Amino acid sequence: MVHVTYSKLMPFRVVKSNTVRNISKYLHRHICSKAIRQKFLDYFVLETGHNFVKSSPVVPYCDPTLSFVNAGMNQFKGILLSTQTPQYKKVANCQKCVRVGGKHNDLNTIGIDGYHHTFFEMLGNWSFGDYFKKDACKLAWDLLTRVYKLPKSRLYVTYFMGDEVLGITEDLETKEIWKEIGVPEERILPFGANDNFWEMGLTGPCGPCTEIHIDHIGVTNRSEFVNKGLHDLTELWNIVFIEYNRHIDGTISTLPQKHVDTGMGFERLTSVLQGKTSNYDTDNFAYLLDAIHKNSRGLPKYGGKFGEMDWDNLDTSYRILADHLRMITVCLADGVIPEQNQKLRRILRKAFLLSESVFKKEKGLVKELTNYVVENLGPIYPEMERNVTQIQQIVNYEEEIYKYLRQSVAKDWERLSKENKKFLEIDIVESPSFITAYKEVASLDVKELDANLAFKLYDTYGLDEDTIFKLSRVLDLKFNSDLLDQELEKAKYKSKENSLTQDDNLYSTLVKENIPKTHDRFKYLYSKDQDKYVFNSLDVKVLKIFQEGTSVPEIDSDFYCSLLLDRTNLYSEAGGQICDTGTISFGNNTFDVMALENINGYILHKGFFKSKGSRLDLYTRGQLSVNPEFRLGCMRNHTGAHLLNAAVKKVKGATCQKSSKVTDKYLSFDIAIFGDKLDVDQIHTIEEQILKTVKNEQPVNVSEVDSQKLLDFDFVTLIPGEIYPDSGIRIVEIKDTDFVSREPCCGTHVLNTSDIGDFCIVNVKSLGRSTTSISAVTGDRAKLARSNAAELVEEIDALTKNIGDNIDKPELLDMIVSNLRRKLNYSIQDEFILPICVKHYCIEKLDQISKQIRETTRENLRDFIEIEMQNVLDSSVKTSKSNKKYIVHYLRSSMILQSVPLQKATKLCPDLPILVISYADNMVKARCCVPKKLRTDKFNAEKWMKETVATVFNSRAAPPKGQDGSLVCNMKSKRVHLQDWDPLLNEGLEKAQQYVEENL
Ligand code: ALA
Repeated sequence: MVHVTYSKLMPFRVVKSNTVRNISKYLHRHICSKAIRQKFLDYFVLETGHNFVKSSPVVPYCDPTLSFVNAGMNQFKGILLSTQTPQYKKVANCQKCVRVGGKHNDLNTIGIDGYHHTFFEMLGNWSFGDYFKKDACKLAWDLLTRVYKLPKSRLYVTYFMGDEVLGITEDLETKEIWKEIGVPEERILPFGANDNFWEMGLTGPCGPCTEIHIDHIGVTNRSEFVNKGLHDLTELWNIVFIEYNRHIDGTISTLPQKHVDTGMGFERLTSVLQGKTSNYDTDNFAYLLDAIHKNSRGLPKYGGKFGEMDWDNLDTSYRILADHLRMITVCLADGVIPEQNQKLRRILRKAFLLSESVFKKEKGLVKELTNYVVENLGPIYPEMERNVTQIQQIVNYEEEIYKYLRQSVAKDWERLSKENKKFLEIDIVESPSFITAYKEVASLDVKELDANLAFKLYDTYGLDEDTIFKLSRVLDLKFNSDLLDQELEKAKYKSKENSLTQDDNLYSTLVKENIPKTHDRFKYLYSKDQDKYVFNSLDVKVLKIFQEGTSVPEIDSDFYCSLLLDRTNLYSEAGGQICDTGTISFGNNTFDVMALENINGYILHKGFFKSKGSRLDLYTRGQLSVNPEFRLGCMRNHTGAHLLNAAVKKVKGATCQKSSKVTDKYLSFDIAIFGDKLDVDQIHTIEEQILKTVKNEQPVNVSEVDSQKLLDFDFVTLIPGEIYPDSGIRIVEIKDTDFVSREPCCGTHVLNTSDIGDFCIVNVKSLGRSTTSISAVTGDRAKLARSNAAELVEEIDALTKNIGDNIDKPELLDMIVSNLRRKLNYSIQDEFILPICVKHYCIEKLDQISKQIRETTRENLRDFIEIEMQNVLDSSVKTSKSNKKYIVHYLRSSMILQSVPLQKATKLCPDLPILVISYADNMVKARCCVPKKLRTDKFNAEKWMKETVATVFNSRAAPPKGQDGSLVCNMKSKRVHLQDWDPLLNEGLEKAQQYVEENL
C-alpha cells in the first residue's frame, strides 16, 4: 500500500476536476475518460474515506499461481487470506490488469467484439474487515446513480442463488439490501456459481458476488436477458464478498475474516458514460486507432465495423493492434521480458505480423505506436514514462528476432501449409516449436488431445494454451482447455513442493519428530569495529547427527558427517551466493564445517569432527564461528554484483539478470541485454561507475518489507519470473549520485561500498543472442588483477621493443608470443587474472607482434631463398664443369615460409633449365624455365612440368598468363599431407631429372 499522498499521485487531478465539473453539468457522453477515472477515485478517496493505493505492476512478484495480475484484488491476496495485516481498512485504486490465460482468459475474443481486452484497467474499492455487504452495495449504487448519473431504469443487480456442491445457501441478505436500496424486486436476479461465485483462479480467495448490469439501450424491463452474453446488456460492476479460500484439491474453507473486493472495468464504464457501443469508440482507444492510421500506409481509417460488415477484417485488425499495443507497452514498462513470458512474446509477434501484413509497415510501427500509449497512460502510470527507452529497446530487439525467425521457418511452413490448409490460419512465428509439436502429435494417431498430451506440449515444446488449442484445431482433435489448466496448476504445486523438500524423507522425519527448523537470522548479524568486520561466534546445540544419511547418537573423530544445529550464523547457498565455511569448537575439540545443506529450513552442517579420541554426542553445545575471510570475500562480491547489475542497466537500458554466482573469490553474472552487445568503452564506463561508488563510501542499506511494501518502490530491480516471499523480503539499496541499486536479496553484503576495496571486470563473454556473462573480482583479487596487468603489459612492451634484435629466431619469438597468449586464457578462479580492458589491449598487441614477426621473418626468409639458390648455383657451376647442364631442386627454406615466390629462385638461373619445387603450409608448388636457346620440340618447359612433377602431384601445369609455355611453366599449388611428402617429392625430383637427362 502506498503512503504517498493521493493528490501527489494524481497530478492532473486539480486541472481535470474543473473539466469534470464543467462537463458533468452538461452532457455525460462528453465526459473524458480521465475525468471518469478521477471521479471514481475522488468518490472513494475524498468522499468516503478510502485510501488510495497505486496499481501494482502487471506481473505479480510474490504469487506463483498467476502469470499476470488479472484483477484489482491480486495485490491484496495476502490480506484477503489473513496472512498479511492491512495498513488501511478501506482502499480504492485503479489497477492495470492483463487477461491472456488461465481462468480469466480474453485473448481469443480480442478484436471480434468491442469490449474484451488483453489489457484493461480495473476500478475497485476494498474493505478489509471494515464495511461488508450493505455498505459495499450502497457505495456502488450511489456512485453509479448519483455521481455518474446513470438512470436507475437501466440497471439490474444479480446475487448468488446458492450452490449445493459448494454447500453455500442463497445470499438472501444481499437480496434484501438491494430491496432496501430501492431496486425493484424484478430487477434483483439470482444466479448460480458460474455467474455469481467469484474466484481469483483455480486456488485462492473467493466468495459469492453481486453484480450490477447495465442495459445500454432499452428502457423496458429486459431482466430475462441479463447474463445472456448480449452486447448491449452487460455486467458493469462486480462486488465480491470474499469469505472462502479455494484449495488445490478443489475444496473450499472459510476464511477467518470477511472482506469486500470490487471491480469495475474502466473501459466498459467509459463506453457506457460516453454513450458508445464499443470500447474502441471511446477516447481510451480512438487516439490509438487514429495513430495506427496515421502511421500506416494508404489504408482507410478505422470504420468501427464488426462481423460480416467488416468483410476484409480491417477494422478487426485495427482493434487487435490497438488492444495489443496497450498490453505490450504496459507489460514492457513493468519489466516483463518477452523472452521469459511467452504470452507477451506471442502478442508482440501478432502485433508485428499485423503491422506488416495489414498495415503495410515492414518495420518500426509497433515501436512508434508505443509513444502514443505512453502519452495517454503515462500520466496515470508514471512507470510508463520512466521506462519508455526500455519499452522501445525491447520492441526493436523482438522485432529483429521475429524477422529472423520468419525467414528461417518459412520453408517448413510453406510445405506444411500445402499439406494442410488449416495451417494458414496460424502464424507460425508466434510459436516456432509448433511445427515440431505438430509432427509429434500427428504421428500419434489419437482422436483427442487429452490433458496429459497437452501438458507435454506445454512443458516440452513450450506451446502455450492458445497454441495448443490451435494445434488441436489444425489436427481436428478434441481438446478441453480447462483440464489443461488443472494439470498446469497441479504441476505448479508439485514443483513448489519439490523445491521445498529436496530430501523428502529426511524433511518429513524431522517434521514428524517435532524438531524445530534451524534459526539462521544470525548470518546477518555482523558489525564493523573501526575498519574490521566482526563476526561473533554463536552458541549452538547439536540436535541431530547424520552419518551416510542415517541419524546416529554420536560420532567418532575424523568421520565425515552432518550436524543439525538449533541455530546457525553460517550462510547456506541462496540467491547465487555460495555457502559459508566455518568451525564449531566443542571445548578442546572442533568440527570443521565444509559445506551446508538447507532442507527447507533444516540446515545441515557438513564436515569432520576432530578430537583426540573423544566422541561428539547429541545435544552437545559448542561455539560456531564463520570463516571471516571467506565470508567477507562473499560479501564484497555480492555487493559488487548488485553494483554491476545496476551499472550495466544504467549503460545499456533494457537488461535483465538471468543468473549470478557469488563466491569468496569472484562474482559472475549472466545478464540479458536487449540491444547491441557491450563494447570495450561501455565495459570501461561500467567499471568506472562502480569504482566511483566504491570510492564515494556509500552505505549499503538493508530493510525488510512484505509483498505490499515491495510494490511501493518506484524502482526495484527484480529477476523476471522469480517469485518473492510474501513477507520478510530484504531490500538491499545503494545510492550514489545519478546511480541507484535496489534489489530484493537474501545474501550478505558489506556495510559500506568502500569495503569492496576495488572492483575489476576480468571476463566478458557472449552466451547466445542476448545473454552476456560478466565475471569480476573485488578487494585484493582486483588488486592482484591490476598488478598482473602491469607485469604483463611490461613484458609485452619489452617484447615489442626486442623483436628487431631477435628476428633471426622466429621460432623463439613465436614461442614467447604463444606463452603470453596462453596467459590470457585464464579462468576466473586462477591466480593469473587480468582486467578485461587490459586483456583486450594485450590481445591486440600480441596480434600486432605476431603480424610483425610474420612480416619481418617473411622478408628475411625470402632472402633465404636467394641464399639457398645461390648455393645451389655455386655447386652446379662446379657440376657444370663436369657437364651438369640443368638444375632440379627442392627449396628447403620454403618449409618455413607461408608463401614462396618461385620466380625469385628461377630468375637467378637464366642460362640453365631449372625446375624448383617448394612446400609451404602443406602446399606444394613448382616452376620451371627453359632458356630459349635450349628449347626443342622434345624439351620444353610445359612438357617438362606436365610429364613429371605435375603428374606425380596430380596437379595442373600451365604457363603464367601471357607467357610462352615452352619457356616457362608453373604447377598449380596442391595440398599434400606431410606424411606423404617425402616419397612424392623424391619421385617428382627423380622424374624431373630423368626427363632432362633423356630429352635435353
Ligand atoms: N475481483 C473481482 C473481479 O475481478 C472484483 O471481478
